[in-house]
Amino acid sequence: MISRPKGTNDILPDEIWRWHKLEAMIRKECACFGFKEIRTPIFEETHLFQRSIGEATDIVEKEMYTFLDKGGRSMTLRPEGTAAVVRAFVENNLKGAGLPAKLYYLGPMFRYERPQAGRYRQFHQFGIECFGSLEPALDAEVIMLAHELYQKIGVKDVVLKINSIGCPDCRPKYLEKLRSELAKYKDRLCENCQRRSITNPLRVLDCKEEKCQEVIADLPHLQDYLCDECSLHFTNLKKILDIWELPYVEEPRLVRGFDYYTKTVFEFCFDDLGAQNAIGAGGRYDKLVEEIGGESTPAVGFAMGMERTLLAVGDKWQKEPEIDLYIVSIGQETKEEALRQLLLARRHGIRTEMDILNRSVKAQFKQADRLDTKYCLILGPDELKDNRVKLRNMQSGEESEYQISEWLGGLKL
Ligand code: HAM
Repeated sequence: MISRPKGTNDILPDEIWRWHKLEAMIRKECACFGFKEIRTPIFEETHLFQRSIGEATDIVEKEMYTFLDKGGRSMTLRPEGTAAVVRAFVENNLKGAGLPAKLYYLGPMFRYERPQAGRYRQFHQFGIECFGSLEPALDAEVIMLAHELYQKIGVKDVVLKINSIGCPDCRPKYLEKLRSELAKYKDRLCENCQRRSITNPLRVLDCKEEKCQEVIADLPHLQDYLCDECSLHFTNLKKILDIWELPYVEEPRLVRGFDYYTKTVFEFCFDDLGAQNAIGAGGRYDKLVEEIGGESTPAVGFAMGMERTLLAVGDKWQKEPEIDLYIVSIGQETKEEALRQLLLARRHGIRTEMDILNRSVKAQFKQADRLDTKYCLILGPDELKDNRVKLRNMQSGEESEYQISEWLGGLKL
C-alpha cells in the first residue's frame, strides 16, 4: 500500500466542515477589516526565500523543499507566505493602488521539519500582510485582527506575547554584545547554538535546550539596546493595545526565526498544545520590500497555523446538519415521483438526498437520521394517488400533509 508522505495529512470529508467554518470566519473577519485576498504560486525561485528569510535561519538551512525544474532552475515550495506576497506586491506595483495595502492569503506551506503533534511538513496558514506605514497603528491593526479572530473562533485562552527586536541602527550593537557574551559561555551551549552564536546569535535566544536556557537567562536584554525610535514605537504600540484592552505579555526573549523582522515581533500561544503551542505569529518588516527590489515600504504581518488553531478549538464547535431534506419513498411505484421531487428540490437550492441503494423504508429513515436531515419528504402510494405528500420536521417530529405542488412552502430553513 502507498501511504501519504510523512508529516502530511489527508483532510477527510468528515472533518472538512471544520476547515470550511474556519475559512468562512477568516474571510468574514478580513472583509470587516478591509483586507483583500491575494493568491501567489505554491513555488517560487529559491533565492526569494534565501534573500528574505535569511541564509542563516533554520528554514533556509534545513527545512526547504528545493528542487531543480526541468529547465535547471532552482525552485522551492513556499515555506511561508510573506516573501511571496512581498514579491507580488513589488512585481505587480500594488503600491500604485494606494496605501495602506492590506492583503490576506490562505493555503499550504511546506517545511521539512521533524513531524510531531501540531508540526507537519505540509501545513496551512492564513496570513495577512499590511504595507505602507511606519506607525504602530499598522502593527496594532494586524494584532487586533488576529486577536478578534481567535476570540470569535473560540480560542479565548490565547496569550499574546510581544517584543521589539530593534532595527538595523540599534540591533548591531546588541548583536556585538551578544556575540561577546556567548563567546564566554561557548562550552555550555548545544552544538547548534555554538554555530549560531557566530552566524545568527539572535537565534540562540530561541533555543529550547535546557543547558542553553541556563546561559540565555543571564544574557543582556535587547530592549535595553533599542534606539529612541524603536523604543518609542514599542511604547506607542502598547498604548494602542491598552486602549483596546487587548491583553499581552512582554517577552524580551522573543526573537522569531526570520531575518526580515524589524521592531515589533509577536506570537499567539495556546498552552494546552504542548511543545508546538504557537498558533500564530508575526511582526514588522520595514526593509524587506526594498530588499526584494521595490521602493522602500514599511510593512507588518501575521500568519495563523490553521491545523494548530483547529487543535486548539478541539470539540468546541457543533457540526451543522449537512442536508435539509431526505426523500423517503414507500414502495416501488413512488420512486419515479421521488426522482422528480429530488430534481425540483435541488433546483430550489435545497440540499437533498434520496435512497439510491434500494433500501427498505426503515433503512431510509435510519439513513435520514444518520445524515441529520432537517426534514423528510415522505411519498406513500395511497397519498400519491391523491397527489398528496407528507413533510416531517425531524427535530419536532411534526408531520403535515401537502398537495405535491405545495410542499416546498412548508420548509423553514
Ligand atoms: P511562523 O511563525 O513561521 O511565521 O508561522 C506562523 C504559524 O504557522 C506558526 O505560529 C504555527 O502556528 C504555524 N506553523 C509553522 N510551522 C508549522 C508546521 N511545521 N506545522 C504546523 N504549523 C506550523 C511565518 O510563517 C511568518 N511568515 C508570519 C508573518 C507574516 N510574519 C509577517 N507576516
